Amino acid sequence: MTDVEQLEQIAREVAVCTACPLSRTRHKTVPGTGDPHATIMFIGEAPGYHEDQQGKPFVGPAGQFLDELLASIGLKRENVFIANVVKCRPPNNRDPQPDEIAACAHFLQRQIQAIQPKVIVTLGRYSMAKFFPGETISRIHGRARRQNGVIYFPLYHPAAALHQPALRRTIEEDFKKLPELIASLEDAPPEEPPAEKATQLQLF
Ligand code: URA
Repeated sequence: MTDVEQLEQIAREVAVCTACPLSRTRHKTVPGTGDPHATIMFIGEAPGYHEDQQGKPFVGPAGQFLDELLASIGLKRENVFIANVVKCRPPNNRDPQPDEIAACAHFLQRQIQAIQPKVIVTLGRYSMAKFFPGETISRIHGRARRQNGVIYFPLYHPAAALHQPALRRTIEEDFKKLPELIASLEDAPPEEPPAEKATQLQLF
């Protein structure tokens, strides 16, 4: 299967998934959208009202802000891939529960494998927790970590800026570091460190 076919297959599986209780209250599943060969992948938390209605990630107010942030560095959403930790909306936008996150984990894992992004931008703490277990977002936001050829870049969730205007500037400032990170990929040595010496990030 090609990468595109794999992503289509994942979306088909998400559409009929009943592995957690969110399948009973969702309207549409939100597998993720964007360039199947994107260098940058953004990973949010879970669909909200608008995403649940449209079946696309980040199409509500937080998504408008994400579009603005992307535009500030000359990108459009078609240039990146956008997905969420959880593919169905939690009722009343409550936090996703550990069992829901666990049930959905393989979809995200397979999306990452198909896309093979060079930069993974985590939006919010649930997404951050996948790649930076035990960390707190207030401590590590805007600080990139390179692991086995992939840059992991944790950011506050764009919705946080909508509710806490003081955070807006922080996210905007953090976002401005992305072009430099992307440019640094070209300078980085292509070879991976030997497997036994590589400290594995605990991914899932
Ligand atoms: N918030 C998210 O984390 N994801 C979306 O898709 C929309 C809002």
